[in-house]
Amino acid sequence: MLPAIHENSVMNAILSNMAEAVLVLNQDANVVLANRAAENLFLIRDGVLIGQSFFNITENEKIISMVNDVLSTGKEVFTETILLPSTQTHRIHVSALKDEQGKMNGVVAVFHDVTDARNFEQMRSEFLGNVSHELRTPLTSIKGFVETLLDGAMENSTQCRRFLSIIDTETYRLGRLIEDMLSLSAIESKERVMRPKPVCMLTSMRNVLNILGPQISEKSLRVDLIYPNDHSYIQADEDLLNQVFINLLDNAIKFTPENGSIVVRCKKQDSRVILTITDTGVGIPRESLPRIFERFYRVDKARSRRQGGTGLGLSIVKHIVESHGGEVFVESEVGKGSTFGVSFIAL
Ligand SMILES: Nc1ncnc2c1ncn2[C@@H]1O[C@H](COP(=O)(O)OP(=O)(O)OP(=O)(O)O)[C@@H](O)[C@H]1O
Ligand SMILES: [Mg+2]
Repeated sequence: MLPAIHENSVMNAILSNMAEAVLVLNQDANVVLANRAAENLFLIRDGVLIGQSFFNITENEKIISMVNDVLSTGKEVFTETILLPSTQTHRIHVSALKDEQGKMNGVVAVFHDVTDARNFEQMRSEFLGNVSHELRTPLTSIKGFVETLLDGAMENSTQCRRFLSIIDTETYRLGRLIEDMLSLSAIESKERVMRPKPVCMLTSMRNVLNILGPQISEKSLRVDLIYPNDHSYIQADEDLLNQVFINLLDNAIKFTPENGSIVVRCKKQDSRVILTITDTGVGIPRESLPRIFERFYRVDKARSRRQGGTGLGLSIVKHIVESHGGEVFVESEVGKGSTFGVSFIAL
């Protein structure tokens, strides 16, 4: 057993280092003890909380009635609420303080900040909702066309061919969706081991231009590559960097009408290498720009779906770039075109 004085200082050390705010109130609901977290939460400097009536330090009806309840019944209660002026969600636990004879002489209230957990839960449920919706759309369409075929459309060879080709497109989209989700989750969970090595951004971009060559010629697009004389090396995982350029260039091609043009610029600025892809496509409305890198976000869902898009491309780009310590940016004007850019620390 620790001597009383030592016990007290240990107690104080524990209380003042706790992330949770702790308040002890007497029977008249006056504060008799408050740790540092409680002072911060109620925005009161050193010690001033002590002696104040609890009802003067908060206007939150929910906790006021909880404290009153516990003071009159001696029960233990929990709740979750936002404590103004903070914007954080707190889980609050109020219980009775009783002496050895079981007589109540106050209450103790503990405030635990659960904002991160709640935000995470909300994000997860939004994500699940989005995924289910994205998976259901092509499935519903496949099911519809299969039923129409079975109902007799298969006897008509033109119709049969047309419906089968729609089914083919939809299954391709389902496959891509699953692949994109897997690669996003692998990058996010850091499950995919990065193999960084010196990579020339320009060489990577040239490879990608070759890969997407057929789509570029199909739409008769003109692509200009403008670059400095010195090569632009960065430390990166080459496959992942290629994936960034494929996604960005694929968008530029997809959202630019036939005979349009795309300019790829690579430049060194201070200690960074910056690559931008400027197209003369449909552009992105100003209000959509802040959301463009979110998973599944598409300006025109129907249009993107028709083109086989999943809306995951840019979120994959952002994740890869940021996991390399780089930055992504976008500028756009509706009807004129868009510029997407990435910037990395130069080697
Ligand atoms: N270069 C661009 N020009 C105009 N809009 C663009 C451009 N790039 C992206 N967008 C808009 O941003 C949305 C999200 O892009 P993202 O690459 O994440 O998805 P997607 O291209 O629709 O699908 P996926 O990349 O899976 O094929 C697109 O649907 C489109 O509305
Ligand atoms: Mg895309």
